[in-house]
Amino acid sequence: MPDQGKFLVVGGDSLVGGATVKALAARGHEVLASTRREETVGPGRVLMDFEREETYRAPEGVDYALVIAAATNYERCETDPQARVINVELIPRLVASLLEQGIFVTFISTNSVFGGERPWPHEDDPHAPGIAYARQKDEGEREILKFADELDARDRLNITRLTKIMESDTPPLPNWLAAWDKGEVVTPFSDLIFAPMSTRFVGESLATIAEKRVSGNLHLSGAENVSYTRFAEALAGRLGVDSALIEATTSTEKGIHIAFKPTYSGLGMTRTQELTGLRPQPLEALVRDLFPAARDLD
Ligand SMILES: NC(=O)c1ccc[n+]([C@@H]2O[C@H](COP(=O)([O-])OP(=O)(O)OC[C@H]3O[C@@H](n4cnc5c(N)ncnc54)[C@H](OP(=O)(O)O)[C@@H]3O)[C@@H](O)[C@H]2O)c1
Repeated sequence: MPDQGKFLVVGGDSLVGGATVKALAARGHEVLASTRREETVGPGRVLMDFEREETYRAPEGVDYALVIAAATNYERCETDPQARVINVELIPRLVASLLEQGIFVTFISTNSVFGGERPWPHEDDPHAPGIAYARQKDEGEREILKFADELDARDRLNITRLTKIMESDTPPLPNWLAAWDKGEVVTPFSDLIFAPMSTRFVGESLATIAEKRVSGNLHLSGAENVSYTRFAEALAGRLGVDSALIEATTSTEKGIHIAFKPTYSGLGMTRTQELTGLRPQPLEALVRDLFPAARDLD
């Protein structure tokens, strides 16, 4: 068993949180996942709702917390004032209380704080958030740094920003697979750029960061800025699908408004690589993680 205390994953059922719990547990660590659903509390699962609790006392023995929970829906961040309260007030306050208890904290943020016009931003580059979600995460980061300074705890804090995370059931993949199964064409957007990573890669990388207890700003990113068309081609290659079943289009052509449409999505990982040895995930590795076994199309 590794010689470390317990890890607390706040937001244990989120896409990122679930993968992190799995990776830490597989490495032999004691890990607690937080949930808001009382009926699911049990071994390895603890109750936490930062919208209800004023102050939070971490369970006995926890010495590292990954604060992954957030209000993540772009539309909700634009329209619901509570989303801002969660991202800019409640979560920074939770991080402060964890730091105050002597716990090392990872706070999860997003590539969108850079606004999407700068290629491969460095971990310490200035921010240029556009949409409400990005502005709230940016403000949340600043609040957390302010608390960490007040507590003289910057050496027990890292802010880890992520690019887009994909699972095999992340839209639009289920629709694409259903279409390919029927021999139908899919129409990915070639004007929508991202630098995707697999949940497995993110979970493993966060476990490494937590084990190494690195402080400061860190990034996890896909290795390429790709369009959804290029992504569809990589998937088709993996699945043995005829590339004739991909007909590129654009969101502009389709008249679809997309809230966050960056020119560049990938994050620079220079500092992260130096301090942790982690490298960006290549597209081929993502596609392998999404479909580890060859899949039979009917
Ligand atoms: N997904 C991505 O592509 C992506 C990309 C970049 C950055 N990120 C960042 O990664 C983190 C996780 O994203 P995700 O997409 O995995 O999240 P998600 O699946 O949308 O899950 C959100 C999590 O927040 C928890 N939560 C919300 N309100 C809460 C409250 N009042 N008290 C306690 N927990 C609360 C939810 O808990 P319950 O399960 O109990 O409802 C859930 O576990 C976020 O910080 C996000 O900004 C995600």
